[in-house]
Amino acid sequence: MGDLKSALPVVLDLTGRLVVAVGGGPVSARRVRSFLDEGAVVRVVAPWLCEDLRDLAHAGRVEWLERDYAGPGDLDGAWFAHTATGESSVDREVAADAESLRVWCVDATDSTGTTASVTARADVTTPDGRVTVSAYAAGDPGLSVTVRDGVERALVSGALDLRRTRPRTGPSSTGDGWVALVGGGPGTDGLLTARGHELLASADVVVVDRLAPRAVVDRLPASVRVIDVGKTPGHHPVPQSGINGILVEEAQRGHGVVRLKGGDPFVLGRGGEERDACEAHGIPVEVVPGVTSAVSVPAAAGIPVTHRGVARGFTVVTGHEDIPVLPTGGDHTLVLLMAVNGLRWTTTLLRKNGRSADCPVAIVERGFAPDQRVTVGTLETIADLAVGRAVESPAVVVVGDVVRLGPDWRAAH
Ligand SMILES: C[S@@+](CC[C@H](N)C(=O)[O-])C[C@H]1O[C@@H](n2cnc3c(N)ncnc32)[C@H](O)[C@@H]1O
Repeated sequence: MGDLKSALPVVLDLTGRLVVAVGGGPVSARRVRSFLDEGAVVRVVAPWLCEDLRDLAHAGRVEWLERDYAGPGDLDGAWFAHTATGESSVDREVAADAESLRVWCVDATDSTGTTASVTARADVTTPDGRVTVSAYAAGDPGLSVTVRDGVERALVSGALDLRRTRPRTGPSSTGDGWVALVGGGPGTDGLLTARGHELLASADVVVVDRLAPRAVVDRLPASVRVIDVGKTPGHHPVPQSGINGILVEEAQRGHGVVRLKGGDPFVLGRGGEERDACEAHGIPVEVVPGVTSAVSVPAAAGIPVTHRGVARGFTVVTGHEDIPVLPTGGDHTLVLLMAVNGLRWTTTLLRKNGRSADCPVAIVERGFAPDQRVTVGTLETIADLAVGRAVESPAVVVVGDVVRLGPDWRAAH
């Protein structure tokens, strides 16, 4: 058997080719699944099978020889073999038979003697195509996994800049520009989705909001043009029509454009309008959902928007015109966005329309930021409390009995 320290990494096309797996335990099961994923025909030799393999055998997805390994005949026709019986003498026998038949064989119990090894692998989808990351460290699977994870993270986080691997497209009205409306979550980079990171790693232009995760934007390479259209309450530096125009214009120049928005693009975020504007010009648009502040910011303050026996539903609103038609019970949670400035009028309207004065209310300012702050009160008291504590936007206001479940209410009562 060879020493795999100077192994040659290769990619095998297993489609339609026979792979023999000896052993019926979980290690075998994991590998058999990956052989099947690659289109291999799989024969399993084992006197018993773990549940996963048993399901595959019952579904007819693998051929099962229900007995102990019986010699080289079991490897007949195989292109590749894998042995993980838990008995090193059996694994050695399988490996030796495979060697004499010139069949590559992974011996899962002998990392130094095996003639083939499965590498630590990750498949990453990038806007430029799928990349398989594969890492191998002889005799040290932990190291392989760590390296694989590191490269995968670098790819999805954008630290590995994919823009260098393809030529930039030049200005052209028929160029291959695209727009992605990416939900950035409530402002902390950990809550930006993997798909969001992937698209950022391929964008030429990033059009960013005030509440989008800024740390992610700060890490972008200098070659990426960042256009800040950030809105603050009462101050809109770039009107919506202007933002739509930027997206269309940049994509028409052949640029990949990420529109990085706070929360989810389709929750009180005008993402639908931006998508329509792009599509009206024939520009391909991908919408990447984000973690909405409507649910995550209350969660950051320990408040679930629904809870068995307390609240079965919730409504997300902004604007006073909706209030008369909302359910009035404390068991229906109201989540109010962009509600700080009109808070006194909102609470008055809610009471006029049937919510009780002692209905609990929480205001969560700057959710997930180091200086996140929670103010709790009731419909009767919250407006004065907010003035007293100089509550500011951005904040999410939660109205309903679920507020009692958060630590701030408990601490105050
Ligand atoms: C224009 S809306 C956009 C909502 C966004 N599309 C979403 O799904 O979260 C902006 C409002 O979201 C809320 N908001 C967003 N991020 C927040 C955060 N980190 N902390 C508190 N409120 C936040 C505030 O009510 C803010 O005024």
